[in-house]
Amino acid sequence: MTGTLTAPGDKSISHRALIFGAMAIGETRIRGLLEGEDVLDTAKVLRALGADLSQESAGNWRVHGVGVGGFAEPSCVLDHGNSGTGVRLMMGAVATSPIACTFTGDASLCRRPMERVLGPLRLFGAAAYGRKGGRLPMTLMGAHDPLPVTYRLPVASAQVKSAVLLAGLNAPGETAVIEAVRTRDHTERMLRHFGATLRETTDDAGHCVITLKGDADLRPADVTVPSDPSSAAFPAVAALLVEGSDVLLPGVLMNPTRAGLYETLREMGADIAILNPREAGGEPVADIRVRASALKGVDVPPERAPAMIDEYPVLAVAAACASGRTVMRGLGELKVKESDRLSAIAEGLKANGVAVEIEGETLIVVGKGRGGVEGGATVQTHLDHRIAMAFLVLGLASRDGVRVDDVRMIATSFPSFVGDMRALGAELN
Ligand code: S3P
Repeated sequence: MTGTLTAPGDKSISHRALIFGAMAIGETRIRGLLEGEDVLDTAKVLRALGADLSQESAGNWRVHGVGVGGFAEPSCVLDHGNSGTGVRLMMGAVATSPIACTFTGDASLCRRPMERVLGPLRLFGAAAYGRKGGRLPMTLMGAHDPLPVTYRLPVASAQVKSAVLLAGLNAPGETAVIEAVRTRDHTERMLRHFGATLRETTDDAGHCVITLKGDADLRPADVTVPSDPSSAAFPAVAALLVEGSDVLLPGVLMNPTRAGLYETLREMGADIAILNPREAGGEPVADIRVRASALKGVDVPPERAPAMIDEYPVLAVAAACASGRTVMRGLGELKVKESDRLSAIAEGLKANGVAVEIEGETLIVVGKGRGGVEGGATVQTHLDHRIAMAFLVLGLASRDGVRVDDVRMIATSFPSFVGDMRALGAELN
């Protein structure tokens, strides 16, 4: 595989750019927006709540917001498709407005836990009525007289942190979120960019306390969305594994709360050069050059998991083609992603001749070495875009190829994946 691949806009930043734009008064312009299904579903939901969003040309959008607390009660069900980020952030965004919203999603999203956001949103005064176990579909009644909240995150989740901060915008006083392990900080960065007042301090336990001034006004702001490191991860690992590859991935987000995969791959012996580091739109970005490499197994510590939580499917594929064992710790959260990724990874690798063990929240992959994976099996993707892309990458590196049962979900985050990979010379049929 050779050439240049510009990965699509970052999904986390794209959701937030639309949501913050819709909560500001005036016109926000966005460049490089990811036009994947997840983000387009968020745009539809924001329209149903009264914001005006329009595409000017590919990736370039204008948003006319309604202001903090300005969402209108929607007359339809809010369907977030496959997107946990979309629904959880929007639940936070409406929780402190006196409106009723009914949320739903596809079969994957309707299986995922929402209680993790509903718990803190109830503290603001919101109420939720949904299926057993806090599952969608669900109606959220926003608080009439919201209270400010201080919330210690019980799980390392940027979605929960962001839901609380978004709710705090329309509550009086100060809302605080305490996190033991830093999760992606795009909400904090973008809130400041849109004029909110936020401070970060450290408590006695050394945990980060993020405090937001409530009753906030957001002012519109321009946003340039960098390339998504979680999407760039697929061509990057493919280039490492396919003999003779030399691939350039320009303008990839290098925020330290997202860059764990690249650090891990380098520890495995990957030839990855981080070129031309710079700042774009308030975020660090760089061009990444990846050349085919012989990888060795490593031990990935649990504290790194939040900085690469979406990258374990493709890291496991890299591990399968490395020499020696790779031990990935602290992966409990993988069970509640678009699929139960811990078992989807294990099943897919085993079917293709790779030995895998799961011990509690630890995944161990016994590498077959360069060119050692046989392949030949069909992998169940369980409505999960990243499982589909990861196993297609395994197919490129294997002797007999790998088939996946469903590629539709790839359009949620990386609609141009197949065409972009073929343009680099990858054999995808
Ligand atoms: C995201 C946070 C992560 C990640 C997801 C995007 C975000 O989820 O897996 O793809 O944009 O805040 P959790 O907060 O559940 O870890």
